[in-house]
Amino acid sequence: MSLLDDIQSVLYPEEDIQRRVREIGAELTEAYAGKAPLVVGVLKGAAPFMADLVRRMDLPLELDYMVVSSYGQATKTSGVVKIIKDLDFEIEGRDVIIVEDIIDTGLTLRYLADLLLRRNPRSLRIVTLLDKPHNRRVDIRPDIVGFVAPDEFVVGYGLDYAEKYRNLPFIGILKSRVYAGRA
Ligand code: PRP
Ligand code: MN
Ligand code: MG
Repeated sequence: MSLLDDIQSVLYPEEDIQRRVREIGAELTEAYAGKAPLVVGVLKGAAPFMADLVRRMDLPLELDYMVVSSYGQATKTSGVVKIIKDLDFEIEGRDVIIVEDIIDTGLTLRYLADLLLRRNPRSLRIVTLLDKPHNRRVDIRPDIVGFVAPDEFVVGYGLDYAEKYRNLPFIGILKSRVYAGRA
């Protein structure tokens, strides 16, 4: 009985993810040279990506986290974004970078970006490891995308199904039998 038994195929192996994380880290290091951005992770999904990414950014950055949830136990978004924990820091006048694991319908990030923009940051950019443009319901354009993902149910490296699989070091496609009849 292994977590791997529920995975149909590996979409992004650990090495590919880590290579892309290093590239994005280097890109952000250059883009924010001379600045001290506030990097905002959107928990829980963004936690592994955020932890790896900031260690590839050579900047005097600070970390903060928001906890939001829209999916609950379902495979489809409820469309209602719940703020469970807001930022600790004020962001007025600051360079803010939102870090996400995935943008799907876009509802989570649209809501979050609008919320943070009303607080008048100096700049706000969005970095997402995966972009899944197929089911976009609102207009939201990430500034940096790790991979454009196919329209499959992906788990691992922060991405969950019913809170499981976040700890896989790679991103894979979940076997449909795992969520059959529950979606
Ligand atoms: C997932 C994912 C993104 C969001 C993307 O979070 O981590 O935050 O959904 O979907 P959307 O673009 O359709 O809004 P979820 O709400 O499942 O919470 P989690 O990060 O704790 O898994
Ligand atoms: Mn999330
Ligand atoms: Mg989730």
